[in-house]
Formats: sequence, structure tokens, C-alpha cells
Amino acid sequence: MPNRVVVGTQWGDEGKGKIVDILTEDAEVVARFSGGANAGHTVVIDDQTFILHLVPTGILHPGKICVIGNGVVVDLEQVLCELDQLRKRKIEFRDRFLISQTAHLVMPYHKVIERLEEEARGKDKIAPTGKGIGPAYRDKMARNGLRVMDILDHDLFNKRTEWNLKSKNHFLRKLSRKEFASIKKKSLEVSKFRRRIKPFIADTVLFLNQAIKEGKSILFEGAQGAMLDIDFGTYPFCTSSNTTVGGACTGLGVGPAQIDEVIGVTKAYTTRVGNGPLPTEQQNEVGKRLQDGGNEFGATTGRPRRCGWLDLVILKYSFRINGITKIALTKLDVLDAFNKIKVCVGYKYRNKSVTEFTPDLDVLGNCRPVYEELPGWHKETHGITDYKDLPDEAKKYLDYIARKLETPVFLISTGSRRDQTILP
Ligand code: GDP
Ligand code: IMO
Ligand code: MG
Repeated sequence: MPNRVVVGTQWGDEGKGKIVDILTEDAEVVARFSGGANAGHTVVIDDQTFILHLVPTGILHPGKICVIGNGVVVDLEQVLCELDQLRKRKIEFRDRFLISQTAHLVMPYHKVIERLEEEARGKDKIAPTGKGIGPAYRDKMARNGLRVMDILDHDLFNKRTEWNLKSKNHFLRKLSRKEFASIKKKSLEVSKFRRRIKPFIADTVLFLNQAIKEGKSILFEGAQGAMLDIDFGTYPFCTSSNTTVGGACTGLGVGPAQIDEVIGVTKAYTTRVGNGPLPTEQQNEVGKRLQDGGNEFGATTGRPRRCGWLDLVILKYSFRINGITKIALTKLDVLDAFNKIKVCVGYKYRNKSVTEFTPDLDVLGNCRPVYEELPGWHKETHGITDYKDLPDEAKKYLDYIARKLETPVFLISTGSRRDQTILP
């Protein structure tokens, strides 16, 4: 079986969790390569719903080995909390869960700093998930971070933590003495997770490359989406990591020639949580119907997701920077309710036509989308598992997307449950 990377092609929440869960069948190893607990990946198996933030989605399949790679920023308390929940639900993970020794830690002070910094931003808030992601990646890049392996060295861990607290005085002095003392205590206590985390710490670079050599197939589980990528997304309204395909190599230590397929998970319409431009946003009855029909509320924060029509300008760009080879199209069923479906094929900005993505937020924030209109099907596709049973208009919508993006649709999702899928 091929080594596949699964990435989000929009602003996250495209349904990567469900797609990774399905594709795990064909893999021996599932590896997360970027982001942290800002991700919320939902898998629905029969009447049970699982939401995973850090532990790879593959954990729900007995026998599959799951890896948190070096490119992920890891909140150890959150990992342990997810493992506890899995154990409660009788999912065994003991011998099949690995955390990279060199993954950076999200420390309690990162979350506080994120909050203080966001407060200080005034009107220009980014609205992060509050999981300390930005400050943790900043420390990594500034070479101030603490890595998973550092919890094994008590003195080093304490020294670096104390130094970090001191060097972040610019932010932390805003805290009361009591608050500071509490954050300091919590931060130093992170090393207490040592006992429970130690069995999972591994040289995941060696492990993954050996697995590939042995002919095992790896599924690379992306988090967030291309438009949240630190280099390619709608900066600064984005996350702090490379969410696109290159992140799979740097976030796991696997060479690009080992990747056989890049699966782009694409929602049949567009959503975004938090602030930043969303050219096709529908702040009207259409947006409300997408939000209600798709149950568009964040899996990590519960915040309502902003909704709009599919945007091909964004997608063309996203497919280009990721080199997407196949589309996994999700939430087709949410469009069942519409008589007519619009797709954005360009923007008008100050009387000029824009047909390619631009990082200029003024354009993205103030343009007028140009739409093509396709007939809706107005029939239920929810739960359909056979392509033949789809209404003609739904097939046409899929063909239209594949043609415009010059990429085949190989999997179609028609509901949140694992079995509500049209498989290749
Ligand atoms: P991820 O972050 O990309 O894994 O996506 P999330 O789990 O945050 O959000 C996707 C939501 O849509 C979850 O609630 C899924 O259960 C749900 N979902 C996934 N695929 C489908 C689908 O085809 N139809 C419907 N109606 N819901 C879906
Ligand atoms: P999954 O993997 C949707 C958004 C946040 C915010 C911005 C920055 O579930 O698709 P951060 O906490 O990363 O600094 O927040 O990015 N964001 C996501 N939106 N899905 C996600 O992950 C996201 N991860 C971050 O809402 O706007
Ligand atoms: Mg999500």
C-alpha cells in the first residue's frame, strides 16, 4: 500500500479525522506531523463519537501504530488526558503509541502568554484556540523550547523552565504574584508526567524510516488546513506551523520521495473558525443553513464556524502548494438542502478581476466573489455508500470540482459516520 499524506485544503475542519480513520485500514502506521492540541479530529463509529486532539486518529484501529512526530508541539497533560479517555473506552494503546523525543513541549506558560498577547492585540485579534500553539512554536524557532526528551533530565528541565519564565518577564509581569507563582509551579510540575510518558518516548525518525524500509505503509495525518499554514495561509490569521505537505517531511524526518500520494480533504463548501478573511462567507440564511446542516461548531473550542460557498480560487492555490493527487470530498450531504449551489471561480476587487490567490488581506477581505451556479439535487444523499445512487446533479457537482481542480475525486463522504462513505 502507498504512503499517503492527508492534508486539509481549506481552513481546517474539512473532515480529516473521518478520512484518516477510513484510510487507516490500508496503513500499518499513522503519524501526526504538525500542529498540536489546536486540532480537533472527529471520528464517528456507529453511535460512538471520538474527538482526538493530539493522539493520531489511527489509534481507534486495533493493531495500528500511532506516532506523534517531532513537528508537533505536545501538551503532555492533554496527551495523558486523551489516553485516559481511550482507556476508559477500552481502546488499548500500550505497545502502539510513540512520541518523538524531539517534539517540543507546550508549557503552561505558553497558554498564559498566548492569552495575554491576544488581549494586548486590541481590535486585531487572531482568535487562536487557546492551546498555546503560537508561543510554543515561537520558542522552538528562537531555540528556547523544551523538548519531550528534556523531561527525562530533572536538573536540565528545571533550569530551562526557570530561565524561560525569567526571560518571558515582558509578558508575565502582567500577572499578579499569586498567578505567576501558580504558573511557575504548574510549569515545573510538567516533568512529573515523566513516569507515565517515558514508555512512549522514542526515536520516531528511526522507527518510521525502518518501517518504510520493511515495506510498511505510513499514513501521514495532517492537521489544520492549507489556508492556516504559516507560510502559505492568510497570515497573520493562521496557525504557527506548516500544515501543508512539506510539514510531513520536516515534522517526521521522512524524505519526500517516500510519499506516494497526497490526499486533499475538501469540504463541499467552506468554513473557518476564528478571525481573518473568508471571501465566500455567507452571513445570511445560506450561511445559517450550512452551519446547521453541517453542525459547524469547532471540535476543539465549540465556537461556531463561519460558513460560505466553495471557493475555487483558494482551492486551486491549495492544490498547487500541496501537489494534491486525489480529492476526498466531504459533507456532500450538507448541500442536499439547496436548490442552487454556488461556486466561487474568481473575485472582483476595485473593478479588477482576480483569478489567482493573493496573500493581500485587503483583497481577500474586501473582494466580491464571482460565482458560477450549479443546479442542486434537493434529494437526500446522506448516508449513500454507492456512487450509482447519487443524484445526477450531485455527480455533476463532483465532476465539476474534479475538472476545475484537475484532480480526481477518489472518496466521497456523505455523513459523519465511518460507514457513510463512497469508497474508491
Ligand atoms: P477535521 O478537523 O478535519 O478532522 O474535522 P472536524 O472533526 O473538526 O470537523 C468535521 C465535522 O464534520 C465532524 O463533526 C465530523 O463528524 C463531520 N463530518 C465529517 N464528514 C462528514 C460528512 O460527510 N457529512 C456530515 N454531515 N458530517 C461530516
Ligand atoms: P483541525 O486539525 C480549524 C485556527 C484557529 C485560529 C487560528 C490560529 O481540527 O482542522 P492556533 O490555536 O493554531 O494558534 O489558532 O487557526 N485553527 C483551526 N481552525 N481547525 C483546526 O484544526 C484549527 N487549528 C487552528 O481557530 O483562527
Ligand atoms: Mg477539526
